[in-house]
Amino acid sequence: AMAAERSLAMATCTAPVNIAVIKYWGKRDTDLILPINSSLSVTLHQDQLKTTTTAAASRDFTEDRLWLNGKEADVGHPRVQACLREVRRLARKRRGGSEDTAALSLSYKIHIASENNFPTAAGLASSAAGYACLVSALARLYGVEEELSEVARRGSGSACRSMFGGFVQWQRGERPDGTDSLALQVAPETHWPELRVLVLVVSGEKKPVGSTAGMQTSVETSPLLKHRAEVVVPERLAQMMRHIRERDFEGFGQLAMRDSNQFHATCLDTFPPIFYLTDLSRHIIALAHRYNAHHGHTKVAYTFDAGPNAVIFALADTVAEFVEVLRRSFPPATNGDQFIRGLPMGSAVLSQELVAAVVAEPVPGAVQYILHTKPGPGPQLVDDPSQHLLGADGLP
Ligand code: DP6
Repeated sequence: AMAAERSLAMATCTAPVNIAVIKYWGKRDTDLILPINSSLSVTLHQDQLKTTTTAAASRDFTEDRLWLNGKEADVGHPRVQACLREVRRLARKRRGGSEDTAALSLSYKIHIASENNFPTAAGLASSAAGYACLVSALARLYGVEEELSEVARRGSGSACRSMFGGFVQWQRGERPDGTDSLALQVAPETHWPELRVLVLVVSGEKKPVGSTAGMQTSVETSPLLKHRAEVVVPERLAQMMRHIRERDFEGFGQLAMRDSNQFHATCLDTFPPIFYLTDLSRHIIALAHRYNAHHGHTKVAYTFDAGPNAVIFALADTVAEFVEVLRRSFPPATNGDQFIRGLPMGSAVLSQELVAAVVAEPVPGAVQYILHTKPGPGPQLVDDPSQHLLGADGLP
């Protein structure tokens, strides 16, 4: 327990990125961040992609402060403030309203430092991992052990799903106050040991329309999104849960691709339309379909969020061959040294038939690098004090 007589209390956590296979797009309450449909995601392993956050409280701090990747940022951001307020509310509730003098004072100012183990410029900078990590670190600091996905949701909708490992559902909930709009683990990361994920980091991207603004325009203008939320997603969610339970890659992959495509169709149905898919995205989509057609079944599945990077799902025995297909299709611009990153993988020799049927005109340099990862666990507490992102003076 953190004693108030201590001048400085500190907690550090890490949290993962997640990639949705049934997409969240659209809010019914923009303040509470309540979605129009449930969604389902795979939590990615923190060895490859993670955020680390240290939260500190001290009677000596004169103001709340926040640093993101070493640079001071606006701690007054409404979503950061919402998370802070909610964690403190839970802490107060836990203490039963009594002013427990042994507990860390809720009136102390706080310092927060957060950083990612991946390049920010890569367009992987995930608000999901960031807010899941912020909420985890604050909860630890204040000794809160309650359900926290509801709090992370206030930072970013998709962040609530990063509060668990493996396969995670965010159930939309029915109540206007959002108390039933929570994340639930569908299966742990150990459930499907052969599942692998390739993140194709695309070169030279420009900043597209942000999710928050984009989805609001979609809610206001897209009849397809309304149909999707009311009719399509409820059916797909049940199907996707079954595919995951049965470790059915054919079903899982097909549905992940269809749902990504429908999300991007709702973007096109938005007025004015929003374009997240690029020529390169379409090139990758066509390549995946040619590859699957060549093999006669679903060996790889793509999904795209509100940006140009592609995420590919495959089973472990397919990764080396498909990565070789990618390398032939998007030859690395430089010597290809760091083209494949993350988990180790074997090598594969492609047959003439495969190359002829699948590899089209190469587009050199289009893919910057490929990150090989897999499903992983939820937020972790970092015990080692040398890992804190803030020093004994409370500064980075
Ligand atoms: C396309 O969670 O970033 O990645 O709730 O406004 O912060 P806010 O939006 P955000 O939206 C994510 C949209 C998506 C699909 C998904 O992750 O489900």
